[in-house]
Amino acid sequence: MKVFSFINQKGGVGKTTSAITLGHGLAIGGYRVLLIDGDKQGHVERHLKIPKAGGFRRWFYEEEPMEKHIVEARPNLWVLPGDKSTNLVIGKLRDEPLATPLFVRRIRQEAESLGMQVCLIDLGPGLDHLQTAAMMASDYVVIPVSPRFLDMDGVAEVTSTMAELNYSKGKSWERFIILPTMYVRVWRESGTRLKELVDTFGSLVWPPIPNDPRVVESAGRGMTLWEYAAETKAVKGIEAGGKRIGGYEEALRRMRRLLEEG
Ligand SMILES: Nc1ncnc2c1ncn2[C@@H]1O[C@H](COP(=O)(O)OP(=O)(O)OP(=O)(O)O)[C@@H](O)[C@H]1O
Ligand SMILES: [Mg+2]
Repeated sequence: MKVFSFINQKGGVGKTTSAITLGHGLAIGGYRVLLIDGDKQGHVERHLKIPKAGGFRRWFYEEEPMEKHIVEARPNLWVLPGDKSTNLVIGKLRDEPLATPLFVRRIRQEAESLGMQVCLIDLGPGLDHLQTAAMMASDYVVIPVSPRFLDMDGVAEVTSTMAELNYSKGKSWERFIILPTMYVRVWRESGTRLKELVDTFGSLVWPPIPNDPRVVESAGRGMTLWEYAAETKAVKGIEAGGKRIGGYEEALRRMRRLLEEG
C-alpha cells in the first residue's frame, strides 16, 4: 500500500479536489482506496455528498478501530470522515510525544489490514502537527499549487518542512509531487510561475491541471469530476501543439505508474 498526502499551507489551491478526483479515478480503475479527511472543514464529505462525521477523531483520539468508521462513498472508495472535532486529533499530536509515531504506524497497519491498496490523506490549510504527521506517514507528499505569485510561497514552506523532517528522521524526501492547479494558459502569470516551479523542482512538477469552471460546479453538485464532467479540460488537459497536456487523467496515469512501480 502507498500513502499520498495532499498538503499546502495555502488554502484553496485544490488539495481536496485533487485528492477526491485522483482517489475516485483510482477506485474506478479497480484500486481499493482509502481517503482520510484530515481537514476539520469536512470538505471531502460535502464534495462526495456524504455526512460529515467524527470518524477520524474516533479512530485516532479515542483509539477506536478504523474499520468501525470508514464509509464506502463510491464503489472501492472508502472515506474516513472528519468534522470540526478533528481539532482533538491535532491537539493529541501536539501534546503527546508518542502520538506521531503511533499515527504513522496505525494508518499503515489498519489500512493494510482492511485491504486498502492506496491511502490518500486530505489536509486542511496550514502546516501544523497533523500535516507533519501525515508527511511522515506518506510515501509521497502531493503539493497542489495554483501558479500565482503569493501561492508559490506555500511550496517552499512544505519542501523545507520536509527537509527538516529528513534531517531528524533520516528519511528520503525526494518523494514529493508538485501539482500545478487552476492553470490559465492565456495568463502570463500562470506561465511565468509554472516555469519557475519547473526551473526549481524539475521533473517533480507534474503537468498542470487547467482552470475550469466545471470543477466548481461538480463540487456544488456533490459529484466527482468523473461523474459530472469526465470530458472537461480539467480532466483531459489542454490542447497544445496537436497533443493534450495535463489534466487529472494524466495525473492519474502517473499515479498508477508510481503504484505499479512498487
Ligand atoms: N482546476 C480548477 N479549476 C477551477 N476551480 C477549481 C479547480 N480546482 C479547484 N477549484 C475550486 O477552487 C476551490 C478550492 O479548491 P479546493 O477546495 O480543492 O482547495 P483546498 O486546497 O482543498 O482548499 P482548503 O485549503 O480550504 O482545504 C473550490 O471551489 C474548487 O471547486
Ligand atoms: Mg480542502
